[in-house]
Amino acid sequence: MYRTKNCGELRIQNSGEKVTLAGWVQKTRKMGGMTFVDIRDRYGVTQLVFNQEINAELNEKANKLGREFVIQVTGVVSERSSKNTHINTGDVEILVDKLVILNEAITPPFTIEENTDGGDDIRMKYRYLDLRRSNVRQNLILRHKMTFEIRRYLDEQNFLEVETPILIGSTPEGARDFVVPSRMNPGQFYALPQSPQLFKQLLMVSGFDRYFQIAKCFRDEDLRADRQPEFTQIDCEMSFVEQEDVLNIFEGLTKHLFKTIKNIDIQGDFPRMTYADAIKYYGSDKPDIRFDMQFVELKEAVSGKDFVVFDNAAYVGGICAKGCASYTRKQLDELTDFVKRPQIGAKGLVYIRYDVDGSLKSSIDKFYTTDDLKSIATLFNAEPGDLILILAGEKSKTQKALSELRLEMGSRLGLRDKNVYKPMWVIDFPLFEWDEETKRYYAMHHPFTSPKPEDIALLDTDPGQVRANAYDMVVNGVELGGGSIRIHDSKLQNRMFELLGFTPEKAEAQFGFLMNAFKYGAPPHGGLAFGLDRFVSLFAGLDSIRDCIAFPKNNAGRDVMIDAPSVIDQSQLDELNLAIIIK
Ligand code: AMO
Repeated sequence: MYRTKNCGELRIQNSGEKVTLAGWVQKTRKMGGMTFVDIRDRYGVTQLVFNQEINAELNEKANKLGREFVIQVTGVVSERSSKNTHINTGDVEILVDKLVILNEAITPPFTIEENTDGGDDIRMKYRYLDLRRSNVRQNLILRHKMTFEIRRYLDEQNFLEVETPILIGSTPEGARDFVVPSRMNPGQFYALPQSPQLFKQLLMVSGFDRYFQIAKCFRDEDLRADRQPEFTQIDCEMSFVEQEDVLNIFEGLTKHLFKTIKNIDIQGDFPRMTYADAIKYYGSDKPDIRFDMQFVELKEAVSGKDFVVFDNAAYVGGICAKGCASYTRKQLDELTDFVKRPQIGAKGLVYIRYDVDGSLKSSIDKFYTTDDLKSIATLFNAEPGDLILILAGEKSKTQKALSELRLEMGSRLGLRDKNVYKPMWVIDFPLFEWDEETKRYYAMHHPFTSPKPEDIALLDTDPGQVRANAYDMVVNGVELGGGSIRIHDSKLQNRMFELLGFTPEKAEAQFGFLMNAFKYGAPPHGGLAFGLDRFVSLFAGLDSIRDCIAFPKNNAGRDVMIDAPSVIDQSQLDELNLAIIIK
């Protein structure tokens, strides 16, 4: 037997017991004739003591232990004279009488401690060492617990877990596909699924009624903190449901996770906001409602005073930052620089300071009288001490920039506490998005999303106005999941394809199997998929989803540990009937 106890379980009650532990050497300290070694495994850290006076040879051996050596020790548990309150085993230590070196280790490239000295790149290259750090491991333990509870909840709700294929066909909608050449079909490629969308709909046609899968998805997109090229969805689909049924089930799942994992009772129904309101008041389809600071539209109120910036702008809007009137010139300049960053793209920032003495000062004093400023302040319900920040320009770009500014002010004011959770639904998304570049409509969610029945007539007259039975769950400004009620009628589905610019032949080639399936009796159905990585990150309070993925990719989409992607041998290319020309 390698061990009788693990490194995290010994307590004062175990004093006097003879135990055997196995694990890694975290650190060694020599103090006079004593040597202290911290031994670590997944469960924790325990202090070992070697005493020169009792066993000089053993003490000598302990002194030679290097960091990360794998060892086995036997000894008696004893109460520590100086206790360590930071660790669970901190009341005890082991007086070692036997030490076996199971494996030596070369010096690791960074310290394997919570606050490591290793930078991002080096930690990713040696991810297996990084995973020895308890904070990284905790994220994966959390992930395990969450998937366990997800399966438990969905099983109780009659969902069946069904696996769907990874090698599928490419579809042109959505993000870019990752493709895999087929040896047996020269010149042809599989695509990796961006989601199991079509398969889950087919499972509804097959009568499975309630499906779920913790599914790997692959998207060749530009990466961000909340995006990985391969990520995991909690993918679900249900038959004979309306939007309300779907929202209820997944609100239930979310509450179940909050309760079982974080011991948080979320009372009442999640608030719902239409997409139109989310954009109007927060400039985003994933508003962070931990704080108010809603947008106020000002175009009418500020026009006609010869201030060309406002007069020429399609949109003028602002926010009111409570208690920020004391912002200095330097702070205001910082905010101006913030909104002018290329990724935010505003041309400038207008401020109105409502000083505590009731006076109003602004960067537009030349054009607006004190009374004008006062009436603007009234629109914001501003009080003395507040700061109003205004942006102007093209509508959607300015709303986006104002949304970023709102989040920045929320952070500066400490209103985005990671331990406060505000879940909500954003509903009534538009069915289509117009793309100026290609001059065509794209499905905002995906081509299988059903229009709201009351908007179907608009498909022929004003497709841009059609709302979808589509919804996203948003928590603290993060889109955790999204879904829709699907089209289950092949005629309506064909009309959708037509509006999306598919010829009947192309639609048939891409989605013929689904259209055919629908001819054999498709139940009304709908569903949703959560991003598991985002869910875990939210619960763990992480800034990047990478930290809850065992072996993530870096921002260039590379796995720096295994050094992938990589070139392949000529013989492999020959087998695949491929030649490489790099353009
Ligand atoms: P959607 O594309 O909105 O919907 O994806 C669902 C959820 O998956 C997560 N997600 C990601 N997480 C990490 N990295 C990525 N690159 C990434 N892309 C998406 C998000 C998102 O909310 N088939 C539909 C769902 C449905 O209609 O049922 C779908 O895939 O949390």
